[in-house]
Amino acid sequence: MYNQKVLDAFANPQNVGEIENPDGEGTVGNATCGDIMKITLRIENDVIVDAKFQTFGCAAAIATSSTATQMIIGMTVEDALKVTNAKVVEALEGLPPQKIHCSVLAEEAIKKAIEDYRAKKQNIKTDKSKIEYV
Ligand code: FES
Repeated sequence: MYNQKVLDAFANPQNVGEIENPDGEGTVGNATCGDIMKITLRIENDVIVDAKFQTFGCAAAIATSSTATQMIIGMTVEDALKVTNAKVVEALEGLPPQKIHCSVLAEEAIKKAIEDYRAKKQNIKTDKSKIEYV
């Protein structure tokens, strides 16, 4: 079902965990399967210097979170917003069609974490405990 690249990313995920006092964080869930993903970011001068994820989800969700966090480290927040689930799937050389929706969690969690970062910069309070279902 999964290609070797996806299996490797799942078996040896990178950037698992949570950044303490992150500059941005986002938690999203999939309403159908109930899986949840949280991404925390360390951002300096609008550049993502660290990204970590925690995923309560399937192999595809774990593989795509790992790959997505690897892709955005070193990017400006502007560029990270352009990392779509399709790009993450491409980096993993494909996912089974029924697993494409799992890759959407990573894209949406990154977007939410960047929104949180931008809100914090403007001193706008956000409700981080809220899970946004995508
Ligand atoms: Fe829920 Fe993959 S089945 S994210």
